[in-house]
Amino acid sequence: MNPESWTAVDDYLVSSLVEADPILEQALADSHAAGLPSINVAPNQGKLLHLLVRMIGAKRILEVGTLGGYSTIWLARALPPEGRVITLEYEPRHAEVAHKNLARAGLSGQVEVQVGRAIDLLPKLEPAAPFDFVFIDADKPSNPDYFAWALKLTRPGSVIVVDNVVRSGAVVEPQGNATVQGIRRMMEMIAAEPRVTATAIQTVGSKGWDGFCLIRVVG
Ligand code: SAH
Ligand code: DHB
Ligand code: MG
Repeated sequence: MNPESWTAVDDYLVSSLVEADPILEQALADSHAAGLPSINVAPNQGKLLHLLVRMIGAKRILEVGTLGGYSTIWLARALPPEGRVITLEYEPRHAEVAHKNLARAGLSGQVEVQVGRAIDLLPKLEPAAPFDFVFIDADKPSNPDYFAWALKLTRPGSVIVVDNVVRSGAVVEPQGNATVQGIRRMMEMIAAEPRVTATAIQTVGSKGWDGFCLIRVVG
């Protein structure tokens, strides 16, 4: 029961069930070489996102927080040919790396990386809505705003996933930092919102102790 064994088990699970993929591996290598932080989803979580998108037959995906496009590739590859991803990224340097990674993956035609503060970009996405699937994975203090926008930009049956809702257990601290306040406020909104039903799962693995929230819009 320690981070080393969590990583060993993640390595085992990934080598067992997540097929090796040179394009995804190169995306991570180039992200690292460009100095981007290694805070992409783990491969088994990327595949979870991919499977969820396929399970609901999503055609329109919104991602908040692109980084180098690693999770974006997992999401976009789950789409049918006519499917589209819009992904929002504040840092031009991150978006530039993502563009290259997405081009290498042959996904430039299906993915639009929009550069700017998500809170400024989200109101302009109404014409592209409703999205079938939303992945929220950017600045955690803004999670309440992103959840509210996700709800506006989806439809009954849509699925919203929010990453990093446990933060090594810090989520239980009522006086926690801005990230914890963002997560806790979002949890309260979800709990009070009759248009959604949700759960959250804590995870251990190669990225330590964290978790995700899984939300279904019910209408
Ligand atoms: N989803 C990615 C990881 C995203 S990391 C993956 O799993 O591969 C979080 C990203 O959100 C970073 O690239 C960061 O620059 C971006 N970000 C932070 N604040 C933001 C904001 N206000 N608007 C949009 N993106 C933001
Ligand atoms: C951080 C952000 C993430 O999206 C993540 O999955 C892990 C860590 C971070 O900002 O520390
Ligand atoms: Mg994350």
